Amino acid sequence: MKFFVDTADIGEIRQALAWGILDGVTTNPSLVAKTGRRFEDVKREILALVDGPVSLEVTAEDLSGMMQQARALAAEGPQVVVKIPLTRDGIAATRACSDEGIKTNVTLCFSANQALLAAKAGATYISPFVGRLDDISTDGMALIADIVQIYGNYGFATEVLVASVRHPTHVLEAARMGAHVCTIPYKVMNQLFDHPLTTAGVEKFMADWQKVPE
Ligand code: G3P
Repeated sequence: MKFFVDTADIGEIRQALAWGILDGVTTNPSLVAKTGRRFEDVKREILALVDGPVSLEVTAEDLSGMMQQARALAAEGPQVVVKIPLTRDGIAATRACSDEGIKTNVTLCFSANQALLAAKAGATYISPFVGRLDDISTDGMALIADIVQIYGNYGFATEVLVASVRHPTHVLEAARMGAHVCTIPYKVMNQLFDHPLTTAGVEKFMADWQKVPE
């Protein structure tokens, strides 16, 4: 399973890259706003740092505006994946991008039928939001299981990108289900490292090492 980091924070991206486990980055308008920086600056810095897929979201809501932005974003680098919301115009834009060879990440997916639409439109990735479903007392990971099964039934090339991840168990379940990608907030990525027995084990080894004669 590929690991993307779900952030527009350059420091977080640098750290995830330094760990050597990062395959790509996803951003959205809310994550960019959180940095307090201009989108142009954030985008330029991320693209200079990351060779893997970088999702950058369109903000136009109509087909022609989305296509204008999609073409401009795609021209910024071969690693750009244009993130498009799962609306009627968004699906039409996804089809047009696919026909033009522009990679897409269809976002704000909350149902398996929506995921079918994205696959039929030739999306590179589908982003089901598991945490936001959990928030309304619906099983987010059950949606992932459905989509993985449905895409497998028909051999769709669209990759399942688990998004709106809130805790390490989402990552574990995504891997168990065979999702292609999990986009992980930096905080959750950090949590993946930790186990109390690892911490205690390192402390014990270091303490014992002091007893070894020189
Ligand atoms: O990148 C989109 C997604 O991961 C958003 O997550 O936590 O705002 O639901 P969240």
